[in-house]
Amino acid sequence: MKKFAFAAFLVCFSVSLFAQDIKLPTPIKTGGAPLMDVLSKRKTEREYTGAELDKQTLSNLLWAAYGFNREDKRTVPSSQNRQEIDVYVVIKNAMYFYDAKTNLLKLHKKGDFSEALGQPHITSKAALSIVYVANLDKASNRQAAYTDTGYISQNVYLFAAANKLGTVARGSFNRELLPKMIGLTDKQEVTLVQPVGVLK
Ligand SMILES: Cc1cc2nc3c(=O)[nH]c(=O)nc-3n(C[C@H](O)[C@H](O)[C@H](O)COP(=O)(O)O)c2cc1C
Repeated sequence: MKKFAFAAFLVCFSVSLFAQDIKLPTPIKTGGAPLMDVLSKRKTEREYTGAELDKQTLSNLLWAAYGFNREDKRTVPSSQNRQEIDVYVVIKNAMYFYDAKTNLLKLHKKGDFSEALGQPHITSKAALSIVYVANLDKASNRQAAYTDTGYISQNVYLFAAANKLGTVARGSFNRELLPKMIGLTDKQEVTLVQPVGVLK
């Protein structure tokens, strides 16, 4: 009995310790809707069901957004190839860092991000919110960081249109609270927030 209790304790302990990062399945990089159809459907959507995304869709979405499509280059261009944007993802009460090389969502911080994300009428029903963070000491300049964010955001818009999901680029996040909650330095800046959700 004692052995069983100890084994159960070990399992629970390991789960709480290690079941934090999300290992994503290999993204599916082929097929999909024709580009001109996707461009015809690209639009902002703010009303979602509250449903989650399955892991394959999540992996495909993040690869489309900011994955590597060559050895060290990504699905988006970046000024002087600085690749200064980090992509974080808030799912429920946790924020993850998207590690595109290992295809992992690394737990960054647990907590309630709703106030920091703002616009709860949109974000509360989203499956996730992407948070774009610019590393200004890496960027060629601040404007380049905003431009580079735009490319990633547009890829998310296109992926959403192609997969019957909804998304909205959001500049109206809490500019004091969100950087604090993430733990950003003065050389880092949140450039945009982008919820993605299952359409009603
Ligand atoms: C940089 C940027 C910031 C935006 N910020 C917000 C926002 O805070 N809240 C919101 O509801 N929509 C926001 N939007 C979405 C725009 O309102 C939307 O793109 C615009 O109305 C055009 O609609 P469409 O995307 O369907 O073409 C933002 C869009 C961009 C590009």
